[in-house]
Parts: sequence; structure tokens; C-alpha cells
Amino acid sequence: MWWHDSVIYQIYPRSFQDSNGDGIGDIPGITSRLDHVKRLGADAIWLSPIYPSPNADFGYDVADYTSVDPDYGDLDDFQQLATAAHDRGLKLLLDFVPCHTSIDHAWFRDRPEFYFWADEPPNNWCATFGGSAWERDAQTGRYYLHSFFPEQADLNWRNPDVRHEMTNAMRAWLDRGADGFRLDAIDRILKDPDLRDDPPATEPFPLPLHEEYARLSHIHSGNVPDVALALEDIRRATDDALLVGEAYLPTSRLAPYQEVLDVLFAFEAMNAGPHADRLERAITAAYQTNRTGWVLSNHDFDRFATRFGEDTRAAILLFMFLPGPIFMFQGDEIGMPNGPGVDPPLDRHHRDAFRHPMPWDATPNGGFTTGTPWLPAIDSKARNVAAEEQDPNSTLHLVQRLARLRKDLPRELRFIESPEHTVVAARGDHVIAINVGDEPAQAPAASHIREEARPGDGADPLRIPPHGGWIAAH
Ligand code: GLC
Ligand code: CA
Repeated sequence: MWWHDSVIYQIYPRSFQDSNGDGIGDIPGITSRLDHVKRLGADAIWLSPIYPSPNADFGYDVADYTSVDPDYGDLDDFQQLATAAHDRGLKLLLDFVPCHTSIDHAWFRDRPEFYFWADEPPNNWCATFGGSAWERDAQTGRYYLHSFFPEQADLNWRNPDVRHEMTNAMRAWLDRGADGFRLDAIDRILKDPDLRDDPPATEPFPLPLHEEYARLSHIHSGNVPDVALALEDIRRATDDALLVGEAYLPTSRLAPYQEVLDVLFAFEAMNAGPHADRLERAITAAYQTNRTGWVLSNHDFDRFATRFGEDTRAAILLFMFLPGPIFMFQGDEIGMPNGPGVDPPLDRHHRDAFRHPMPWDATPNGGFTTGTPWLPAIDSKARNVAAEEQDPNSTLHLVQRLARLRKDLPRELRFIESPEHTVVAARGDHVIAINVGDEPAQAPAASHIREEARPGDGADPLRIPPHGGWIAAH
């Protein structure tokens, strides 16, 4: 399958490239930047949601699954993007948001049976962003369920009409040229049929969670045993399109999703940070499932360069060495860290800092817009695509070379015992060695250095320099 060793590049449309000066990135802007994506060595782009949305959650509150938000363009623009991507050999993935609609979706009033309604909150379920998952609707005086913001009402996938409408919408996008989907919050797609209380959590969840949400074990508000009922309908409707699942779970709980979907994000590995043991453990577990998609960053969490700090380039070396698809977020390829966000915040869940406009060049708005950007531009003189293109030692060039190198490596990955603070692994005759500690470490015998985390790192192939590393071939 085309995605097996692919690089998939996530575009946050609002912040990628504005084409008409309104300060909001758009689809023609994306089309105009495809050559950058292609040069990167990416195989596909994934667009965060482009559907009409009142933007309570910037597109993840969908008001209509069948068209394009006028901020981003129209269906013709989408068609042109699909053609331009395919002309360059790039696949196109859309973000599909199956679990909830915007409360501005026509269904919310016209098809109440598509949702969960109750006279009083029927259980203790908590919303991911905190607070009760039940919200009182002023118009009817009744309560509806929302797993995320109150503006995002959960759909009831046990209703066959919901499944029918939603899978039809997916098929329509495939007909228009999409090659697959990233399925948003797929672990919430079905709920317990009796809406039973979630029990208290008995152990800490291995991934970061909102404090209030973390107090419960979410076994009835999501992650139900018969989740395949929904997943299999999606699979049937989409044939062999690529289905990437976003299930915010530890690897050990992904199996029911991996049975039907092609790729599940490796959130534990993404969250391991610059800790050699944690990285090795999380990567090993995810690798063994065979359906893992590695993640540098996305629009929900601290950016890669912020999480890895001085180890950023060594960690890029490691993640890009791993077999299987890898997802990078726009800006990761130039080592873009979190920005300052904006005051007052636009995102109520404090994710503005990860979503600043792409810095394409050193001009004031980084070449993102000729107008006023919807979210302030970061200092584009500090780091931008044009400058990195000029510098063969840049992170951008490193990523471009690694994207090509990874395709030539055999599938099998094995870790090699190594000193504290280091990770050493092999694929065939290629060896990677990185060191996230402050002292140089002893390396396994390696001959020909192919890539260095930082120029000069491979000067002595028997030594792994602190906060650095290399890939070598025997
Ligand atoms: C996913 C998205 C996130 C969104 C949430 C609700 O986790 O990545 O941005 O807020 O789902 O749709
Ligand atoms: Ca625009």
C-alpha cells in the first residue's frame, strides 16, 4: 500500500497560506504551496477540516459535511487542489469529524433523533475539555451530550440513519478526489447503549489529560466493546481509502481500532519527550502493532521543537528512521517551536500557540498574508522556509534527505543495547544512534555516517555527542 513508509504532511488550512489578503489561509493558498510539500519528500497531505464551521473549535465543529467553508474557498478550489496534488503524485486526505456536529448543523434542530437528548443529565460523563458532557439547550430546556465543547453535539452512531448520512458524505469526498481520511476522535464514536456512568479512574492515564476528565475511566462514554459496528460501516463505504484513526489512547488499547482502520496515531511515542527509556519503550510497543503512524506534532499539542528542545534534530532523526507512516505538522520541517499564542485566546482549550501562521520568508507576516493574520505571525526572521532552503545544514534539508532515506530501509526495526540517555536501533545495515544526555556516550561500531543530527556529530562514529546523533551504514 502506498502509505506503508509514507510521509504525511498535516496542513492547518487557516494558518498555511492566505491567497486573497483576508488574513485567513485558504485552499488556493495550499495549492500554491504544493511544491514545498513535494520537495519535502511527502507522499500525502492531510487537511484539518475545511467544511463550513462557526469555528467554536476551528473547523472541528462541522455545520455541513458536504461543502467547503467560504473562508477557505469553494468546491472548485477543492477540485483544483485535488488535481494539482495528484499531478505531483501527492495523495490527499481529509479530516472527517464523525463523532459530533456543530450545534449550527441543520440536523441539530431538524433531526433531533440523530443526537442524545435527555430531560436531566442521565450520567456522570465529563467533557474532554472539562465540565459535564451534558449541556442544557435554552430552546428546548432539554440536555444534549457533547464530548468536547458544548457547541459540538455528539451524534448517535447507533442510529442507522446517522451512519447512512455520514458514510454518504465520506463517499462524496472520495468521488471528488480525496484518497482517505483522518478520523477525528474515533474512540468516541459509539457510547454505551445504556449510558451508564463512567467509573472512577483507578490508575493514572498514560497520556496528558484535562485534570477533571482524568478522574474517570472512559469505558462507557467511549471505547465501547462493539465499536466495530461503526468502524465497519465506515470501512465498507470507503473501500480501500486510507483510514487513519485518532484514538487518544495508550498503544495497549488500540487493538479494536487497528482491526478495522489502517493506521492509528502513536500518541505514547509522541508524548515520550527527550527520555531515552520512554522513547524506546513507547516506540517498541507501537511498532509491534504494525498499524502505527508516528507523529512529530499536530494542532493539539506542544510543537515537536518545543517538546524536544535542544534534542529536536536528534529526535527528528529517530522518528524519521522508524518504519511505517509518519505524520508531520506544518512547521515541523523547519523546527518551528510554539509561538506566544494570543491574548485574549482564540481557542478556549489553549492551543493557539501551536497554530501560528507558517513563516515562509523573512517579510513581516512571513509571506503568509498581505493582510492582517487571523492569529499573529511569529518572528519569521528567526526561522523561515526560504532561509532554510538556502542552507544545506538546515532542519528543512535534513528532513528532505531523511524522507528519502527512510524509503530505502528494510521494514524490520531492532533496538540495540546502549548507554544511559541514548537510543540505538538498526534497520538492516543502517544504524541510528542518538544521545539526549549532557555527556558524550560510547556508540556501537558503525562505519559510514549518512546523516548527522548536527553538522560534525559524526566526526567520531564511535561516539554519540550530547544532544545529537547520527545515522550510519555498515
Ligand atoms: C480532535 C481534534 C481536536 C478537536 C477534537 C474535537 O482531538 O484533533 O482539535 O478539538 O478532536 O473534534
Ligand atoms: Ca484567505
